[in-house]
Amino acid sequence: MNLAKPPQAIAAALSALLGRERFLTDSQSLQHYGRDWTRFAAPAPSGVLLPNTIGEIQAIVGLARQNGVKLVPSGGRTGLSGGAMATNGELVLSLERVRKISPVNQAGRSVTCEAGAITAQIQQAAAKEGLMYPVDFASSGSSQIGGNIATNAGGIQVIRYGMTRDWVTGLKVVTGTGELLELNQGLIKNNTGLDFRHLFIGSEGILGVIVEATLALTDPPRNPRVMVLGVRSMAALMQVLASCQAQLSILAFEFFSDLALEKVTAEHSIQPPLQERYPFYALVEFESTSATAETRALEVVEACIAKGWVADAVLSQSESQRRSLWRLREDISETIAQWTPYKNDISTTVQQAPELLRSVDALVSQHYPDLEVVWYGHIGDGNLHLNILKPDGVSVGDFQDRCKGVSAHLFAAVQELRGSISAEHGVGLLKKEFLRFSRTESEIELMRGIKAQFDPDGIFNPGKVFDP
Ligand code: MLT
Ligand code: ZN
Repeated sequence: MNLAKPPQAIAAALSALLGRERFLTDSQSLQHYGRDWTRFAAPAPSGVLLPNTIGEIQAIVGLARQNGVKLVPSGGRTGLSGGAMATNGELVLSLERVRKISPVNQAGRSVTCEAGAITAQIQQAAAKEGLMYPVDFASSGSSQIGGNIATNAGGIQVIRYGMTRDWVTGLKVVTGTGELLELNQGLIKNNTGLDFRHLFIGSEGILGVIVEATLALTDPPRNPRVMVLGVRSMAALMQVLASCQAQLSILAFEFFSDLALEKVTAEHSIQPPLQERYPFYALVEFESTSATAETRALEVVEACIAKGWVADAVLSQSESQRRSLWRLREDISETIAQWTPYKNDISTTVQQAPELLRSVDALVSQHYPDLEVVWYGHIGDGNLHLNILKPDGVSVGDFQDRCKGVSAHLFAAVQELRGSISAEHGVGLLKKEFLRFSRTESEIELMRGIKAQFDPDGIFNPGKVFDP
């Protein structure tokens, strides 16, 4: 690894502020904190900062500003677009020690937590009080709420509960000037001009650093059940979605391809859920709100079988079976990581999803006939993950170059449908060169202007989302 050194002047001041144990420069720490879950670029930060308090964060920003040093805000580093990577001598500003979760507010049905709080711990704190923080995904055991907010994380129940943005009622942020802003203060109603909170949600750390958030909570679903359905075509998948939407109280509608299932079942030595194999599977979670809900779900499935859309189905009969069925979907990402996949995370409106599936399928057959392609995603909200697996013996660089060439065609198809080239993983470094397929030049110029307002010296997360 290329070992950059922090500038002398700021190194002394940071050591005085944080002590040697919270200002790390050893190569193992630089490697560990300098990257997220992507593997397409080498980490090369010059130091790692572990502040304990918001006051220390403000002091760090002040020092960085005086010395022209760049900062990369860093949470659980579970991102998939390189948004938390430090590749160019930046200092990593880790939030992992700023992680207090305040007691849940029952009357207000909310919780306030510092940015480094782990998502699953917030969910547990809410559950103890009979409430739920509903934004959930496979990495919730290690992702931090500040990172979730900075990337407007989505996940497996967006179809029912929406994205992270829908649950943030207050934010504290430190901007590029070191100023602490308190945005919306947990208010449900507040019509007093522009709502800067929403600029920071999904900003990927380019405007400043999120240090605290207030989150709305809700009631947990009653008696959730999961069905896995074997489906013969993507077109049929969309018909099944429409039937389930119309007749069930859906919590999630996910899909995955047979190759995804094959990889997960082989990795964990588990049985496939159905006797035979099908090209695609839908995982449907629904709320069993009454004694008749299960009967209704079975009727929906039978009707889908009669129409030829579904070939076979299994319905969870216990909580542990529900969890096992979920693993078939949730473990895909981690399982295929060993093939250094080229990840696509595209979306369109739900009604246009069949068209998106058709054009993407055609491109895949044309450009990747020799490669393993794993499909999965949150098809119920129009979001498709297309992962191309790197064959053995091909270098990461060559593989990336080949896939990037195809991405231009893929994103043109997405653009045609006015969809998004990054539905939930963000832009970071990985999708930056393709941003123009989803955003106009004038929008990108406006983004530059907004960054300059909050971060006039450009110290926060330089080169992410767009070039300066
Ligand atoms: C998922 O849906 O599993 C996550 O977005 C991660 C991924 O796309 O690999
Ligand atoms: Zn996803």
